[in-house]
Amino acid sequence: MTTFAALAARIEHEPREAAPFVKWVGGKGRLLSQLRPLLPPGIERMRHVEPFVGGGALFFARRPRRALLTDINPTLVSTYMAIRDDVDSVIGGLRRLAGRHSKQRYYEVRDRYNQNRRVSPSKRAAMFIYLNKTCFNGLHRVNRKGEFNVPAGSYKNPRILNEDALRAASEALRGADLRCASFDTLLENAKPGDFIYFDPPYEPVSATASFTSYARDGFSQEDQTRLRDVYKALDRRGCKLMLSNSDVPFIRKLYHEFKVDTVAAPRAINCDATKRGRVSEVVVRNYA
Ligand SMILES: C[S@@+](CC[C@H](N)C(=O)[O-])C[C@H]1O[C@@H](n2cnc3c(N)ncnc32)[C@H](O)[C@@H]1O
Repeated sequence: MTTFAALAARIEHEPREAAPFVKWVGGKGRLLSQLRPLLPPGIERMRHVEPFVGGGALFFARRPRRALLTDINPTLVSTYMAIRDDVDSVIGGLRRLAGRHSKQRYYEVRDRYNQNRRVSPSKRAAMFIYLNKTCFNGLHRVNRKGEFNVPAGSYKNPRILNEDALRAASEALRGADLRCASFDTLLENAKPGDFIYFDPPYEPVSATASFTSYARDGFSQEDQTRLRDVYKALDRRGCKLMLSNSDVPFIRKLYHEFKVDTVAAPRAINCDATKRGRVSEVVVRNYA
């Protein structure tokens, strides 16, 4: 018979469900059920690599034992590191910020964050999460000087601190190698047999759809072409590759020699409510 103590001990050792700790434009949370069937057979034995990790929806849903996660956004990556290495301090910092939240306070924290004074990595991580949870639509946008300039959101009661979620994220990240880098560095770091999921900034569907700005610079068609070249080099190396992008002729042409599936994605962030329907996206794979 299972005793209560034995059951409690088992629950204690079962990995907690993990999920992104930030809202992120292009986050894949709502596409997971369509992406999972497209993962390669034998993925459990592979290292999980995400060069455009963002909120890391697929990584957290999978919780692989070994991972390499990179992104070009330096504060996002240092926040991942702080959560992996010092989650108690991040929680403490966030608790203090959450306890005093107001619109006015949001702008004070944003100023402090932009002054970039020497603060500990965990304090900066707490500010980053606080701003993400309370800003307009969870956007991350910076001006030319690199200052975060998103206005406050109008949430009645935003959930700023979710301690369990942060601890689960910290556990999931235990085996993760984290780096702030551009996707090209994969040419140095990827190994044969790695599973690599590319989720770059999407090619705009129309000229006016290019409202998303992830870092200081947008992601141009030259960047998309460079990414395709990296994809081809890693295909030759023997990596298992999966890539998401918008379903537009330019992207289909770039990857015409690979296997292309489509998924139907809800549009999560669009200021225009009439444009919030479903949109077709491509998933490009180099395996069946
Ligand atoms: C579509 S988002 C990824 C979303 C992520 N899959 C999720 O579930 O939240 C794209 C990410 O690419 C990053 N990025 C933009 N340009 C990059 C580059 N040249 N190299 C690496 N990352 C880049 C952005 O900072 C952003 O986090």
